[in-house]
Formats: sequence, structure tokens, C-alpha cells
Amino acid sequence: MERQTSPYPTLNSASVLDWPLKGPTQVRVRNHVNPLAVQYQIPTPAPHWEQAYAHLHHPFHLDIGTGTGRFLLAMAQQNPEWNFLGVEIRRPLVERANAWAQELGLTNVHFLACNINVTLPNLFAPAELSRVSIQFPDPWFKVRHQKRRVVQPELVDKLATLVKPGQPVFLQSDIEEVALEMEQRFADHSAFTNPTGPHAPIDSNPLGIPTRREVTCTEKGLPIYRYWLERSLE
Ligand SMILES: C[S@@+](CC[C@H](N)C(=O)[O-])C[C@H]1O[C@@H](n2cnc3c(N)ncnc32)[C@H](O)[C@@H]1O
Repeated sequence: MERQTSPYPTLNSASVLDWPLKGPTQVRVRNHVNPLAVQYQIPTPAPHWEQAYAHLHHPFHLDIGTGTGRFLLAMAQQNPEWNFLGVEIRRPLVERANAWAQELGLTNVHFLACNINVTLPNLFAPAELSRVSIQFPDPWFKVRHQKRRVVQPELVDKLATLVKPGQPVFLQSDIEEVALEMEQRFADHSAFTNPTGPHAPIDSNPLGIPTRREVTCTEKGLPIYRYWLERSLE
């Protein structure tokens, strides 16, 4: 593949986890976009998988609402035997994350600009996903805005088809109400179980790499509510 020069400032450290959370590589993006707005109702085509990944037979981890891509780039560096797809509705973040992936020479991670609530049916075949994470999704506090939250029953229903039996969905948020709602929506679905116990949280991040929001919450001493669900064995 021909290498292009990245339009984003080169980062000094080869290890993503050493990158500053904020710094000269900021892109201008809106803080929140409304996923129900008309311009986000068109499904995004699936990536060109063969171009995006060197080893398509490796297991796939889907990170929903991936933000800057910091978490997934670090996961890709530390887990070369996995493939990672990050989906994010704010396109400039996706373009920058893909440029960083290319700059780092990573061939096991790709980012897709899409509204996952309308694009998920296009992306994977049944039981193709070996792990899903949904971390610190936008809380949309106002009752009339809660339909904008990413974990809707339809998304859970689709993931029930796409996640391989026995494989996990990792959820976390610093907003208790949002975390409880996400867990409830998965646990309410007959295809998912909470192996820790009915509606029981877990107390640390089993993936070992914190997201950008997770680092901020930890630094501020905010509580983090985490759940680990599994696709039931058939
Ligand atoms: C609060 S940020 C958290 C980012 C990252 N997961 C973290 O923990 O640092 C939530 C992200 O989800 C994205 N998002 C919200 N709704 C989405 C949707 N329907 N499809 C894809 N991404 C979405 C937002 O643009 C935002 O970047």
C-alpha cells in the first residue's frame, strides 16, 4: 500500500499510551452530534476489509463510539493477533485516527465514520465479532434526548446476532444511570448473560488499557461503573 504523508503533527512517542491526552494534535470537532439528525440516517458502506487489515482471519473487536482512537491504537499495538474496528460519528476524529494508524504502521486497526445505530447491519456477518466495547457513551441527560443514546434495544438485538457465542461485551461509564441502562438492555436480552451475577458490576477494566475519558475520570477521582456481559452459548 502506498504510504501518504499525514496532515497531522507527528507524535514523538512510538507508544500510543505515552501520547498526551491533549496537545498540538487537536482537531476541531463539535462536542456532541445528534445521531438522529437526518444527515446521520444513511448507512456507511463497510470498509474495504482486504485493504484495511493484513490478517482478516484474526478475531475482531468492535469499539463503538471510539472517540479519538487512542484506546484502540494502543490495543492494536499490544495485541497484534487481534483486528480492531473503531466506529465514530464525528468524521474528523476518524480521519485523524486512520492517519495515526498508518503512521504507526498498524495493519490490524481501522476506523470508520458512521452512525453505528444505522450502519451496524452492514458491517459484519453473524457471529463474526469476538469482542465489543462501548465505553463512556454520550449520556444525553435530558429525558427528551435519551433516544439519542447509542445503546438502544435495536442495537443490542443486532449485536446478539453478530457476537460469537461465549464472547464478551464490555460496558463502562462514569454516569451511573447510563451504565445501569446499558447493562439492563443487554441483560434483558435473552442472548446475553451477566456472568458476574444478576446486574453485578466488575471493579476494574479487564482490557487493561484505559480510554481517554477513563483516564480523565480516574485523574478526577470520579466513579466508574463497569459491566461484562457475554453472548450466551447456544
Ligand atoms: C464521550 S465519548 C467517549 C469516547 C471514548 N469511548 C472514550 O471513552 O474516551 C462518546 C463518543 O461516541 C460517539 N458517538 C455517539 N453516538 C454515536 C453513534 N450513534 N455512532 C457512532 N459514534 C457515536 C461520540 O461522537 C463520541 O466520540
